[in-house]
Amino acid sequence: MALFRSREPEAPLPEIDLTRLPRHLAIIMDGNGRWAKRRGLPRTAGHKAGAETFRTIATLCNDLHMEYLTVYAFSTENWKRPQEEVGAIMRLLNNYLHEAISDMEKDNIQLHFFGDLTRLSPELQALCREKDDISRRCTGLNVNICLNYGGRDELVRAARAFARDCADGKADPEALTEQGFERYLFSAGTPDVDLVIRPSGEIRISNFLLWQSAYAEYYFTDVLWPDFDQRELYAAIAEYQSRSRRFGGI
Ligand code: IPE
Ligand code: IPE
Ligand code: MG
Repeated sequence: MALFRSREPEAPLPEIDLTRLPRHLAIIMDGNGRWAKRRGLPRTAGHKAGAETFRTIATLCNDLHMEYLTVYAFSTENWKRPQEEVGAIMRLLNNYLHEAISDMEKDNIQLHFFGDLTRLSPELQALCREKDDISRRCTGLNVNICLNYGGRDELVRAARAFARDCADGKADPEALTEQGFERYLFSAGTPDVDLVIRPSGEIRISNFLLWQSAYAEYYFTDVLWPDFDQRELYAAIAEYQSRSRRFGGI
């Protein structure tokens, strides 16, 4: 038996067609807790590792010249978690946003938030607002971070805002179209999602982008989010590119 195990040569990345990338990629960043548990670490260590993965994947998407990346960071249901975990996630977000905002211009990234931010701490809310002016000066990847986001909550809010406009005489129920309704969503102005990636082995959508993903392709993988890397991203894109999207046609 050989004394040393020969190093496996690095397998080439899955091949992707750079001219047919998803215009809008959405990711449910799931599996942080299980990743930590498997290592005997506290769940918060998983969230920290997950934040690093987000940084890596957002950079790759920007380098690939993708247009839109929407990530699920905290759902309207995640408040059910122990206060300690929620607090740790919020602190991580705070640190991340501080850095992201200071690097945004250098990275040429536009940052947006989908969700009801009013439930976040005043400090986090201020950070979320701070990015607006910088975003206007950037032209690269649009990163949408879903924070206290729920697909149903988004639709109810949109319905409420539309009803208010009708009551004020600014909108007409009979004239409402799909495009018109979209203007009331957090994602107003963003194209439909092309590809949704969910790591961690869960085969469900967990209230993510219900409207925007109506004709998205779905890619599920058992890999936990902190382990998600360039190879995984390329595998998901390759799979997406192999699908036949018919949008109800033939
Ligand atoms: C996703 O990882 C992060 C958030 C939902 C905030 P989880 O914390 O859900 O990790 P698992 O699913 O418990 O492994
Ligand atoms: C979805 O993951 C929300 C985020 C990744 C932010 P969850 O871990 O909350 O979803 P469920 O509970 O497995 O459906
Ligand atoms: Mg989870």
